[in-house]
Amino acid sequence: MSDLVDYQKHGAVGVITINNPPVNALSPGVPEGIYESLQQGMKDDDVKAMVLIGGGRSFIAGADIKHVGAKKSPIAMKWRDEMEMMDKPVVAAIHGFALGGGLESALCAHYRVAVPSAKVGLPEVLIGILPGGGGTQRLPRLVGPKKALDLIVTGRHVPAPEAKDLGIIDDLAPEGDLLNAAVAYAEKIADIRPLPRVGERDEKLQEAKDDPGIFDAMRKKIARKARNQVAPYNCIKCVEAACSMPLREGLARERELFDEIREGEETKALKYAFFAEREATKIPDVPRDTPVTKIESAAVIGAGTMGGGIAMCFANVGIPVKLLEIDQGALDKGIAKIKSNYEVSVKRGSLDAAAVPERMALIEPVLDYDSIGNADIVIEAVFENLDVKKEIFAKLDETMKDGAILASNTSTLDIDAMAAMTKRPGDVIGTHFFSPANVMKLLEVVRGEKTDAATIASSIKLGRALNKVVGVCGNCDGFLANRTRIPFKIEMMALLEEGALPEQVDKVMYDFGYPMGPFAVGDLAGLDISYATRQRRAKEDPEGYRPDPISDALVEEGRLGQKTGAGYFLYKEGDRTPYPDPKVKGIIDAVSRQMGVERREISDEEVLNRLLLSSVNEAAKILEEGIAYRSSDVDVMWLNGFGFPRYRGGLMFWADNTLGVPKVYDTLCEWHEKYGGHWKPSNLIADLAKSGKAFSDV
Ligand SMILES: NC(=O)c1ccc[n+]([C@@H]2O[C@H](COP(=O)([O-])OP(=O)(O)OC[C@H]3O[C@@H](n4cnc5c(N)ncnc54)[C@H](O)[C@@H]3O)[C@@H](O)[C@H]2O)c1
Repeated sequence: MSDLVDYQKHGAVGVITINNPPVNALSPGVPEGIYESLQQGMKDDDVKAMVLIGGGRSFIAGADIKHVGAKKSPIAMKWRDEMEMMDKPVVAAIHGFALGGGLESALCAHYRVAVPSAKVGLPEVLIGILPGGGGTQRLPRLVGPKKALDLIVTGRHVPAPEAKDLGIIDDLAPEGDLLNAAVAYAEKIADIRPLPRVGERDEKLQEAKDDPGIFDAMRKKIARKARNQVAPYNCIKCVEAACSMPLREGLARERELFDEIREGEETKALKYAFFAEREATKIPDVPRDTPVTKIESAAVIGAGTMGGGIAMCFANVGIPVKLLEIDQGALDKGIAKIKSNYEVSVKRGSLDAAAVPERMALIEPVLDYDSIGNADIVIEAVFENLDVKKEIFAKLDETMKDGAILASNTSTLDIDAMAAMTKRPGDVIGTHFFSPANVMKLLEVVRGEKTDAATIASSIKLGRALNKVVGVCGNCDGFLANRTRIPFKIEMMALLEEGALPEQVDKVMYDFGYPMGPFAVGDLAGLDISYATRQRRAKEDPEGYRPDPISDALVEEGRLGQKTGAGYFLYKEGDRTPYPDPKVKGIIDAVSRQMGVERREISDEEVLNRLLLSSVNEAAKILEEGIAYRSSDVDVMWLNGFGFPRYRGGLMFWADNTLGVPKVYDTLCEWHEKYGGHWKPSNLIADLAKSGKAFSDV
C-alpha cells in the first residue's frame, strides 16, 4: 500500500484516506494508492460501501500543479473511470477543497457529502488548461450544461451549500464530524441499486438540445475578457461535446482539446503567474516561522479616497476598524462615500443588502487619537505630504499601544523619514494599496531600513487576510510598482508628441490584452489630479519634473476626462465609449509644432515596445539596487496593480519570453542612440545579455 493512502474498515464500510499534505494533491502515488484500496474493498465480501476522504485540512485540492501536463501512469489514467463503474458504492467525503482533479474524482464516486465550509470547483481555466479528467463531461451531466459552462469557464470556487443546491453535493455533513457522517451515509445507501453513476446520466443534457444557442451565447459573453485566449473556448467546446457525444467519445474529445493547449504559451504564462504570486511572499531574511502580530482591530487615518477604501477592506473581512479624520465634516463625507460604495455593490448584485449595515457597523468614525490607541495596526492615508505624515507618526508613537504596527499608505514618500519620528522604527512599514483600495488586488508592502522581520511577516499575513496579493519591496521613490510604471507614462506622452494619437496607443494596448487603453484609463481617473501635481512639482522641483504640455492643454480647455465628457477622447451622454476627437489631434499637432518635432508614423510594434521596455529597464535598475527581490515580483505587481494581461505572465516574463534579454538590450542601445539619455540600458540588462541569462535567472 502506498504510504500516501490509508485503508481501514469501519464495520461494513471501507474508508480510504488520502494523506498527502498539505492539500492532498493528486501527486504520483496517490491515484495508485486509492486504486489499490478500492481493489481491497471490492475483494472483501464484508465491505458493502466505501468512503473516500482526505486526511488533514482538505479533500483533494487538485492535481499537483507541478505535474500538470506530465505523463501519467496507466492507473492514474483509469482509476476514476473504473471507480465509477464498480458495483459497490463509493461516497466522496469533502472538507476544505475539492478542486480540479479533486472534484473530478468526487464526480466519479457515486455520492458526495460535504461540510458547509467546503468549496468545490473546476478552476483549471485559470492556469490556461481545462479539466482533463472527465470534469467537462460529467459536470454537465450532473448540473446541466448552462451551469456547467458557468463553473468551468469562470473556474470559480463554489461553496458547499450552493453546490448542494446545484446537485453536485448530495448531503451536507456537520462541520468537524465528516468521517462519521460519511460512514453513516455510506451504510444508509449501501444496498441501493442501480448505483447512481454521473457518466450514465443524460437527462440534464436535454437543456442543450432545447436551446442549442447556449454555447455561442457563452462565447459572446466572454469575448471581451477572454480575447487572445484559448483555454476558455476549449472549455466551451468540451461541454458542447458532452452534450452531443456518448461519454467515452466525449472523454476522448476532452483529452484532445486538453492536449491542444497543455504546452501552450497561455498555460506557461498563467502557471508562471500562479507560482510568482506564491514566491512573492518568501523574503530571504524573514523566515516562515517569524512570529506575527494577530490583527483583530485596525485604525485608518484619513477618510479620503484611499482611507475609505482601506477601511472597507477591513470591514469586508470582519475586522473592526476606526476611521480618524481631521474634522466632523470630512469624517461625515468619508463615511457617506463608503456607504454609497456598498450600496452600488448591492445594486450591481455583488453584495447582499443585509451585509451593508453589518459592514458599516464595523467602521467606527472617530476624531481623536486616544480612541485608536488600542488598535493592532494603524494605516495612515492622509494627503501626500511628508511634513503632515511625519507629524502624524510622531503622534502615533505617543498614542499607539506597544507592538502595534504603524503603517503608511504613501505612494512615494520616504518610509524611513516617518519611522525616524518614532521610537519604534522596527514597527513602521509601508502598506501601499492601489485605487480603488477595496477592489484592486495588489498590496505593495514596503520595508524601511529598520522595519523588523515580524512587522514584515505580519503585514504579509494581513494582506492575505484582506484577500490581497502581496508583493514586498524596499524603500525608494515610488517603490517598486509606481517607479516601474512612471517610464511607461512618460513614454505614452512622448509617443503622442512624436506622431502617435491616443486612439492608436490605446488600440495597441487593448489588443495586447489590457482591459482598457492607458489614455482611456486617464480619462476615467480624471486628468485634473496629475495636472495639480505637475503644477506643484513645477514650483517645488522645476528641474526634476517632466512637463506634459499635451495633458496641460487638455485640462486648460476644461477637458478633465469622462466626468466632463471629454479628455484624450470624446464621450457621449450616458456612454463610456472613448471616441477619437479631431480637436485632440489639433492640440497634439500644435504641441509637436511648438516643440519643433516633425511628426512621423510610429508603428504599432514601436508603441508596444517603447511603453513596456521603458518600464523593463527601470525594473532592471530596481533589481540591481536590491530594492526588489526577484523579477517575478515586478510581474506580480503589474498583474495585480496595473491590469497587465495575466495570460502574458507579467512585464518581465513578457520581456524574457517574447524578445529575450539580448534583443531587449540591442533595442535599448539603439533607442539610447536615437532618443537619448533615459534609454541607457541598465547595467543588469547589459550583464544578462552578455552572459546569455534571462530576467528569471536574477
Ligand atoms: N488616490 C490614489 O490613487 C492613491 C493610490 C495609492 C496611494 N495613495 C496615497 O494615499 C494617501 C491618501 O490619498 P487619497 O487619494 O486618499 O487622498 P484624499 O485627498 O482623497 O484623502 C486624504 C484625507 O486625509 C484627510 N486628512 C488630511 N490631513 C489629516 C490629518 N492630519 N489627520 C487626519 N486626516 C487628515 C483629509 O481630510 C482627506 O479626507 C496619499 O499618501 C496618497 O499618496 C493614493
